[in-house]
Amino acid sequence: MFKAVLFDLDGVITDTANYHFLAWEKLARRIGIAIDRTFNEQLKGVSREESLRRILKYGGLEKTFTTDEFAQMAADKNKNYVEMIQAVSPQDVYPGILSLLKALRRHDIKIALASASKNGPFLLEKMALTQYFDAIADPAKVAESKPAPDIFLAAAAGVNVPIQETIGIEDAAAGIAAIKAAHALPIGVGDDDVLGADIAIVSNTRELTLDFLTEVWENNIN
Ligand code: BG6
Ligand code: MG
Repeated sequence: MFKAVLFDLDGVITDTANYHFLAWEKLARRIGIAIDRTFNEQLKGVSREESLRRILKYGGLEKTFTTDEFAQMAADKNKNYVEMIQAVSPQDVYPGILSLLKALRRHDIKIALASASKNGPFLLEKMALTQYFDAIADPAKVAESKPAPDIFLAAAAGVNVPIQETIGIEDAAAGIAAIKAAHALPIGVGDDDVLGADIAIVSNTRELTLDFLTEVWENNIN
């Protein structure tokens, strides 16, 4: 049986993936780059700086800005994003997530956050979920962001569980790649055309029950 579940946050626990998109879209528009939701799939799970690099490359502006201007744009995007998430509340937790967290605790299965977002702890507070998390991996302290395995390895280490005995839950292609690279068992939230047809996927977080996770785990090891 698995001993810990490593959660992504944006797009898994709540709808903040959409706010990230809206904030990037606004920033990109300001510098004359139009991004859409298809392109946005390449930003999901990716760090703030790498997201901006990808947007600039997409718009052919990767050599246009100084280091200071780059840092200022990343800060502006974050300022706008942080304004958007002030209103996040427990009502914004995706369906099924709170009951899954409660069921995991009842069964003594550890819970850790493996989000690339530096706003993760703030959002958990806003949603009144901090108490459920045994560890929050700090994205500022890992060498490489998703799709590298580092943040999932840090999350498993935070709860003292070998990575092979964990499940990772993700909505981003980069995140699924990170879970695979870490050798945890992935479960995707979204579509298999984005996340891959070779892993367990739910289209709605309501499906993320302890029974479902157990079934995925048992099917995988047998
Ligand atoms: C990830 C999001 O969880 O966090 C990305 O999927 C985001 O879209 C990344 O860029 C970093 O977040 P933040 O809040 O530190 O800018
Ligand atoms: Mg995500």
